[in-house]
Amino acid sequence: MAISEKVREQMEASSWIRRMFEEGMELRRIHGAENVFDLSLGNPLLEPPPEFNEVLRRIVNEDTPGTHRYMPNGGFPDARAAVAKQLAAESGVPFTGEDILMTVGAAGALNVFLRSVLDRDDEVVIIAPYFAEYIFYIQHQGGVVREAQCDKNFMPDIASLKSNLNEHTRAVVINTPNNPTGVIYPESVIAEIGEALQEAEERFGTEIYLVSDEPYRKLIYSDDPYPFIFKHHVRSVVATSHSKDLGLAGERIGHIAVNPADPGKVDLMDAATFALRTLGFVNAPALMQRVVAEIQDATVDVSEYRKKRDFMYAALTDLGYSCIRPDGAFYLFPESPLSDDVKFVQLLQSKLVLTVPGVGFGTPGYFRVSYCVEDSVLEGSLKGFAEALDEVRSIEG
Ligand SMILES: Cc1ncc(COP(=O)(O)O)c(C=O)c1O
Repeated sequence: MAISEKVREQMEASSWIRRMFEEGMELRRIHGAENVFDLSLGNPLLEPPPEFNEVLRRIVNEDTPGTHRYMPNGGFPDARAAVAKQLAAESGVPFTGEDILMTVGAAGALNVFLRSVLDRDDEVVIIAPYFAEYIFYIQHQGGVVREAQCDKNFMPDIASLKSNLNEHTRAVVINTPNNPTGVIYPESVIAEIGEALQEAEERFGTEIYLVSDEPYRKLIYSDDPYPFIFKHHVRSVVATSHSKDLGLAGERIGHIAVNPADPGKVDLMDAATFALRTLGFVNAPALMQRVVAEIQDATVDVSEYRKKRDFMYAALTDLGYSCIRPDGAFYLFPESPLSDDVKFVQLLQSKLVLTVPGVGFGTPGYFRVSYCVEDSVLEGSLKGFAEALDEVRSIEG
């Protein structure tokens, strides 16, 4: 079949995801769905907050003519202004609607941004462990991926970041709270990243964007203020969505926010609006723009995810797993008891517990556990976790 070579290679590189999915289906068929404990997906569990349904119903019932038509590609001015107002209140940065572009989720936001800044063979640096789809987004938009490493606390290794910056670097993408680790980069780390970018810009006479992918920004379990990137690098952009904080993953609504102080922001917004239109998105979903504009200060009940984090972290560490306690998102990233994380994930699978190997996030030697599932699934998985660890220990003697 005449499909693109590039897409064929990309599909092969990620075929393990499909294989895992198929094996999970097979296990469910054999053992019954209730006996398979699937902690492999990042599908938000919590329903949207009540405000969402109230506003949605009201808007639908209003039957206002034109509700479902096209609008300016960047989104309804009211929706952009509402997002700007909330982001300004949270970050202390004076955003206006002009700095916001409504997008088809964070994935759409990232693709639009990358399409806007990349010429062929320009480089984008991502920092391990990373959301694996970044690789495909960057390649789709004509870029080349460079991977910087992290330290043992999953913080960016700044020396590794610096060694990956060169005259071809157009952007560095960070993700905090992070998928798969749940760690949040503190302000000091963001500052170091900003300094590294400014040094590189000066050395190479180029401009480099810092892009922060923040779909988990409101799923935070510490009281510390969230460290925004804007004051640490002038060419900075946030890509985010309401997939997780409002539980709207299937509705595909998000935005790009460009630093109001960025001297290139008008060009970037023009390019991003063009990219949004011509990548085939045309605009973000109209109905969702209208709804989220009215509930910018609402969030799912984060305490539910916190309880699951506390339960699962305590349970796994009590069993003897070694794991950093995450401050955000809904994942744990324990060390794999076998040095081969794929083998360990297979061992867990044989105990009917489904997780994802760290190699899929650019960080072998670990595995990802999603705790955004019902409590019964978390509880039911513990037997398999215990047996798998015992089995490794007995082999190691
Ligand atoms: C780190 C990260 N970025 C982006 C996305 C894409 O999210 P969205 O649904 O907003 O497109 C995800 C989804 O899981 C994610 O984990």
